Amino acid sequence: MNLSHFYHAIAGAALLTASMANAADIIPLPSTIAKGETAYTFPAEATFIVPAYEGDSIATLFTLIQPAIEKNAGTKLTKGTEAGDIILKTNPALSAEAYTLEVKPEGIVIEASRPAGFFYALQSLRQMLPAVASAAPATIETVTIADEPRFGWRGFMLDEGRHFFGKDEVKRVLDIMAMYKLNRFHWHLTEDQGWRIEIKKYPKLTEVGATRKSKSLGWRKMDPDTITYSGFYTQDDIREIVRYAKDRFIEIVPEIDIPGHTQAAVAAYPELLACDPENPHEVWLMQGVSRDVMNVANPAAVQMAKDIIDELEPLFPFGYLHLGGDECPTDKWEANAACKALLDSIGSTNYRDLQLDFYRKLTDHIAAKPADKQRKLIFWNEVLHGNTNLLPLNFTIMAWVGADAAAKEAAQRGLTTILTPQIPYYINRKQSPLSGEPLSQGSGTETLEAVYNYVPMKDVPAELTDKYMGVQGNFWSEYVITPEFLEYLMLPRLAAIAEAGWTPQAKRSYDDFHKRIRTHEDIYRANDWNYGRHAFAKEACTKCAGHTAE
Ligand code: ACM
Repeated sequence: MNLSHFYHAIAGAALLTASMANAADIIPLPSTIAKGETAYTFPAEATFIVPAYEGDSIATLFTLIQPAIEKNAGTKLTKGTEAGDIILKTNPALSAEAYTLEVKPEGIVIEASRPAGFFYALQSLRQMLPAVASAAPATIETVTIADEPRFGWRGFMLDEGRHFFGKDEVKRVLDIMAMYKLNRFHWHLTEDQGWRIEIKKYPKLTEVGATRKSKSLGWRKMDPDTITYSGFYTQDDIREIVRYAKDRFIEIVPEIDIPGHTQAAVAAYPELLACDPENPHEVWLMQGVSRDVMNVANPAAVQMAKDIIDELEPLFPFGYLHLGGDECPTDKWEANAACKALLDSIGSTNYRDLQLDFYRKLTDHIAAKPADKQRKLIFWNEVLHGNTNLLPLNFTIMAWVGADAAAKEAAQRGLTTILTPQIPYYINRKQSPLSGEPLSQGSGTETLEAVYNYVPMKDVPAELTDKYMGVQGNFWSEYVITPEFLEYLMLPRLAAIAEAGWTPQAKRSYDDFHKRIRTHEDIYRANDWNYGRHAFAKEACTKCAGHTAE
């Protein structure tokens, strides 16, 4: 320890105060954490050391986080050569996302084997710093952390089909995900109510399919309005967001929901996609499940799906592609001669099998590509209602309705699975039963506590556990038009899901989480993220009209 470190250590111990950021408040809770007795005070001018790694990617990720550390730790960081106040070292014995983080009176040492581990260590460190800019060098508690995630898949899905939030908001969502060490952004880009991604070979998908004649979506007695509503991502926008996510160790999984939930696409290309092209088709103005699904017996519709997959592949360099598959009514297929003939030809009487046959054609198309252009497919669990043996059993089931049973069934059929239980992981639903809660789905039973207390993989037989890839929160936007409302419903519940994805079940406790989440309010405020106030101070939410605090 040099002399300046010695004085910092003494000063740090003396400055241990109640207002100091607390290592034990990290979310998700690290798998092991041991609080020290003393403290570390950053020098006004600190040095850091980063190890060499292919393409200097550890240095790059450090550079991304450096300004936030400097601001909130009240220090100026420069790259050191031998000694350093913050030392990053590679440790090949650690798994890909694991890290150790030691805060000692004389400095901070982080070890990981891969860039992702360093990124997560720095997220933990950021949570230990004051949430706002420090005028003077900050003091933090000493701590020893050895941490790694429970699951490899820790996701969040955003539906932009019903409402479009745009690039800036998606980046804010990615920032929130990164803070909570979530690593999969499932981007639901197509719906009955809007097609939100430019496809160059089929320009009408966005020229026609991205615009509808109502901003709000009608539901039961609630009529649509008359406001023209529009929005989509260009391929340049997509590349920018994929890059932004990648820098934060988040892989983007696009979802093109086919052959159901496709009324916007059918409206754009009725001659290729409609089961009844002679009838008028428009982008849907209502909530619910449209019957206007793709005609899977039309070779032009199958070709269009293949062409779309071909355009998605270079835009989304990650290994997975979600092709939807939920809530696909078969009425129009049952009334269509070509669909009936196709069903006969595959020797089935179950119209769901037309959907499986369609996916088989797309699977074959993908399998014919070079290995680096292939993608593993994900489907919603309704696909299990068809004959999954029509396809190679190498896809993943995202289990949402009756999630635990569906996931188990998928695993028993030899399929991998991801848990996204509608109740309670659909965090677009109301988060309290308070009468002033803004209009959204549900009746308020998906509270922070209910979300937290879902136990992933409860009672799963040991021989099936390796099929479970992880957990994901989903956000459907039928009622959610503004970014403020999106954030209000998302936070803090996304933090509860992140902890289920990261922390061993045996270490999870809502009481403990509740204490920790309360300290995150400062982080939300500092970033100007909106959030549900229910778990925090008793004050009114100013950004959500009609909301009354508990
Ligand atoms: C879904 O909630 N329809 C996947």
